[in-house]
Amino acid sequence: MTPPRVPVRRSRRRLVQLAVVALLSTFAVPVLSASPASASGPLRTHAAARGKFIGFAAATSPLANEAAYRTIAQTEFNQITAENVMKWDTTESSDNNWNFSGADQIVNFAVANNQQVHGHTLVWHSQTPGWVQGLGATAMRTAMQDHIATLVGRYANNASVVSWDVVNEVFDENGGFRSSFWYNTLGQSFIADAFRYARAADPDARLCINDYNVEGINAKSTAMYNLVQSLRAQNVPVDCVGFQGHLATQYGFPSDLQQNMQRFAALGVQVRVTELDVRIVMPRSTAKDTTQATYYSNVVNACMAVTACAGVTIWGFTDKYSWVPDTFPSEGAALLYDANYQQKPAYTAVHNALDNGTSDTQAPSTPSSLAASGITSSSVNLSWTASTDNVGVAGYDILRAPGTSGGSFAQVGTSTTASFSNTGLSANTSYRYQVRARDAAGNVSAVSNTVTVTTTGGGTGDTQAPSTPGNLAASGTTSSSTNLSWTASTDDVGVTGYDILRAPGTSGGSFAQVGTSTTASFSNTGLSANTSYRYQVRARDAAGNVSAVSNTVTVTTTGGGTGGGCSVTATVQTQWNGGYVMQPITVTNTGTSAISSWTVTFTLPPGHTLVGQWNGVITTSGQTATAKNAAYNGSLAPGASTTFGFQVARPSGDNSTASGFTCATP
Ligand code: G3I
Repeated sequence: MTPPRVPVRRSRRRLVQLAVVALLSTFAVPVLSASPASASGPLRTHAAARGKFIGFAAATSPLANEAAYRTIAQTEFNQITAENVMKWDTTESSDNNWNFSGADQIVNFAVANNQQVHGHTLVWHSQTPGWVQGLGATAMRTAMQDHIATLVGRYANNASVVSWDVVNEVFDENGGFRSSFWYNTLGQSFIADAFRYARAADPDARLCINDYNVEGINAKSTAMYNLVQSLRAQNVPVDCVGFQGHLATQYGFPSDLQQNMQRFAALGVQVRVTELDVRIVMPRSTAKDTTQATYYSNVVNACMAVTACAGVTIWGFTDKYSWVPDTFPSEGAALLYDANYQQKPAYTAVHNALDNGTSDTQAPSTPSSLAASGITSSSVNLSWTASTDNVGVAGYDILRAPGTSGGSFAQVGTSTTASFSNTGLSANTSYRYQVRARDAAGNVSAVSNTVTVTTTGGGTGDTQAPSTPGNLAASGTTSSSTNLSWTASTDDVGVTGYDILRAPGTSGGSFAQVGTSTTASFSNTGLSANTSYRYQVRARDAAGNVSAVSNTVTVTTTGGGTGGGCSVTATVQTQWNGGYVMQPITVTNTGTSAISSWTVTFTLPPGHTLVGQWNGVITTSGQTATAKNAAYNGSLAPGASTTFGFQVARPSGDNSTASGFTCATP
């Protein structure tokens, strides 16, 4: 892989950017009192203090005509992307017939307000005029080169225009190349050509590939990862990856966003969120605003946590001007301000994420109406009325005390929704529950009302055995212990517990019970160093029915002593016909001293081939794979963990995944 390209002329722009930051700090002094990131500061002040940008996509009409729009645009943001007017259909609607009026308007506004401009977008299948789409291959490539040379060249010496989306949305949802007129006429070479033309037009500009639905780790983002890796290996000047971030509260948050950004960063590129908005199904409600605010703070927090993330651009800022209702008629309200320019909880969430929560001291409202339902001999379902919070509720702690009085409450779980299922309870037993809410700044609410639950007695006369526990796996294996976990069983009268069975060695011998558990996990201690054991579990119900035994997992304890040892756990994150992604693969230092490197070995089933990897260096010999740490994640303190991941292609119809993960140091 080639190191990141640092063109000589880039230093000119860097100096200007430093000057802009210095200028911002100077301006900020009279406004800010004790701390440079005071609650009164606009978003851009806090972002600049963290070394990031916070930007918005500008619409030219209100920028010219509405004072309220302009005021927020210049006060709150230090970065601008043109929402439409730098696109091909605006800038060159017919061959060599140029219109820079909108683009110039935005660039001039940015220059006047010390904001950086991200050019959007050079080569896209959408908003490109018909005259381009109908060209033959040679003429189309020439048109692309001319367009890039003229448009990028126009701003090449403007210090505010620092970056460009060179190619936009080149993948389909399965990770194949989008069947666009670009691809169908020129093949995938149009991508490398576009980057080379852009570099020639402005050697200083940061050149990005941009797409949507690539925020989490999935087939599409992995295709993008593989493409960026391969382009850079061929010295194609890809400097940056843009994650658009068009999110919707009804589809859930891509919780591996930060990890995804990190794997791209490990390729040596800058990453950025380029078009963030979080739409809701209309109408707005307090609960939807709260969820939306949480999504916004999650995205900003992810960017703050990744050094290579340059900043976050929001796709507009007021609900008065947003593409969402035009495209999704029953959805909207996706931005930080409402249509009357009033700040929404999403604004506060972004603000507080940028200033690291230092200005938010408001606790969420107390969860109420805590109630229990679906009580069995071993489980209960809890639900409550959701809390609200100015920066969004991050989650709930579920607290439990034994009996109907006395004892003390201890946390037994967390939930990001207003419900929770507590399993592994004993039959005929009373428990008390409470919940409390937490926000993104760490403020905790008062506890809810208490609900008392008594589990049922189990099924007398019941003859139905629990389902077989599945996916038994071991993790955190040390020289004397191992942690087992499995997929919980179900049962008509409720599972009361599990028997943990163990046999000596890797084969032979017989299984004997070594413990019980009321949850789907168990820690087996007192083992000998450097020794193999096999484990199985089986479930019991209240009537004494016993399930079949689970799969067998073989564990070899580490060598003990004072040196480092490691364990590994592997998770299949997503799979489809023809492939799967395993991640996170978690490596933990189980020893008593730091380790500086680790090696994980595993087996790929026949016909399976590795097609992508991140945060580790994986080599294969036949079907045996060896993963070594990357340069930045080999050092682990005792107890510390790191993760890596990979993608595999497999024969159609084959549902198996990689297995037999073992970890060793070095
Ligand atoms: O300006 C004309 C107006 O004169 C005309 O009366 C009106 C009639 O439909 O259309 C107006 O143009 C519209 C333009 O937005 C400006 O409002 C276009 O029809 C409309 O298609 C265009 O939509 C833009 C869309 O890209 C085009 O695909 C959205 O504003 C813009 O937010 C959206 O942005 C894209 C990013 O570029 C790439 N990623 C996804 C993102 C959201 O779709």
